[in-house]
Amino acid sequence: MKRDIALARKLAQAASPNVLAQKNNLRVIDNVKWASEQINKTSCLAGLGAVVTGASSGIGRAIALALSRHGVQLCVVGRDPSTLAETVKAVRQFSNVTSFQIDLTIQDNFQPLFRHLEGVGRLDILIHSAGVICQNPMERARIEDFDLQYTTNVRVPYMMTQRLLPLLAAARGQIVFINSSAGLFVKRPEVGQYGATKHALKAIADSLREEVNPKGIRVLTVYLGRTATPMQEALYRQEKKVYRPDRLLQPEDVASVVVQALMLPPTAEVTDISIRPMLKT
Ligand SMILES: NC(=O)c1ccc[n+]([C@@H]2O[C@H](COP(=O)([O-])OP(=O)(O)OC[C@H]3O[C@@H](n4cnc5c(N)ncnc54)[C@H](OP(=O)(O)O)[C@@H]3O)[C@@H](O)[C@H]2O)c1
Repeated sequence: MKRDIALARKLAQAASPNVLAQKNNLRVIDNVKWASEQINKTSCLAGLGAVVTGASSGIGRAIALALSRHGVQLCVVGRDPSTLAETVKAVRQFSNVTSFQIDLTIQDNFQPLFRHLEGVGRLDILIHSAGVICQNPMERARIEDFDLQYTTNVRVPYMMTQRLLPLLAAARGQIVFINSSAGLFVKRPEVGQYGATKHALKAIADSLREEVNPKGIRVLTVYLGRTATPMQEALYRQEKKVYRPDRLLQPEDVASVVVQALMLPPTAEVTDISIRPMLKT
């Protein structure tokens, strides 16, 4: 998204060379908005349809925003009505959006989303970003927390993908699993439950890729390090560490690599991306 804004500013400058120097801020904003609309019209993603889970916060929200700037028609899924409404407001400036306020751990709640998508008859991109983490040593960890992480981080993306595969196959679409470095290796204590769910998600994505590539569907997993989102802020609080979001990956960084990968021509598939903060704390 940062790159999009930079490009938008360049285009705005090209349209009116002195515009950024002008004191009238509204004029600048008008030009940036105009330039964003040009990107939106010319992007190879423009007009595609996407579902983004976890769109009410953090990484899911940043991906939804980045896709909207490319003219992608969005279904955004989240649980908190007020933060989901904030995402809708931001996304609506650039593209069409339908929101689904759903607790994904309750299977019946999916039906309105599935009915909507089947009515539209098209799905090109499915982004799984909803996730939870519960961090505790095994001697204190609750089995209920393990079940919640399994349901949210593994069962939900599996079930949604399974149900939406026919639409994705018809569109020769793309599926993105937002995973974690804990899905590749676990080198710190207290994340056994979370790491197990993210390892499971990796297994599902890797196997699925082999199944659906012949149908033209691409599968990308993104393995993230610590990213400045409400989830990470809560972890820092729990760890009693000072939260310095500027030292972490930004949700927009993640959104940017996801969008770049989605834009590749269908002759190429990016299977895995590992991204971590530049500063090591
Ligand atoms: N932040 C990091 O450092 C980091 C690192 C590695 C991997 N990840 C992964 O990145 C993904 C996004 O995390 P984030 O950092 O953006 O966290 P976040 O800011 O806490 O966002 C999590 C999102 O998941 C949604 N969600 C959780 N449980 C849900 C449920 N039962 N039903 C519907 N939606 C639900 C939340 O919805 P509501 O807020 O509306 O409840 C929210 O939109 C997760 O899969 C996480 O495991 C994050």
